[in-house]
Amino acid sequence: MPVLDILFYPDPALKRKSLPVEKPSEDLNRLLDDMVQTMHDANGVGLAAPQVGKNIRVLVVDVPFPEEDKSEFYELINPEIVSSRGFQMGEEGCLSVPGFFANIRRKERVQVSALDRTGKRFTIDAEGMLSRVLQHEIDHLDGILFFDRLRRLKRDLLVKQINERFVSARD
Ligand code: NI
Repeated sequence: MPVLDILFYPDPALKRKSLPVEKPSEDLNRLLDDMVQTMHDANGVGLAAPQVGKNIRVLVVDVPFPEEDKSEFYELINPEIVSSRGFQMGEEGCLSVPGFFANIRRKERVQVSALDRTGKRFTIDAEGMLSRVLQHEIDHLDGILFFDRLRRLKRDLLVKQINERFVSARD
């Protein structure tokens, strides 16, 4: 199974709003398989299709719960946050912006509705880390990166550092 290339900031695919999937297909299943492999290979807890250059509303998450010796694995097609409650702060990074981290304010709990790969609708009631990862990945589908959620001054400072690494490095 091939591992896909993960796009890095400032690739334009990361800033685009992704389109809904019309209906599941074999091509989509193959993409999901490849995304799961790519996420695991990169030791990531989530990966959204735009990060591998596909601007469609598809993402995968695999959030470990070490104390319980298990992980919460989901494949989501056309995910939507249907309700949310409370707030949490926590450190985030992104496979598309390696080496950078920031404390980001997110909803504590979210209920997410999505289709699975057979086209069946399901709902996840998430809190804590799983809730955070789902919000981060759903943001990717709208072209939003984690640092876009920072307050203006913090965002500008971090973006300047990121640009120095990823943009100037190309010249
Ligand atoms: Ni990310």
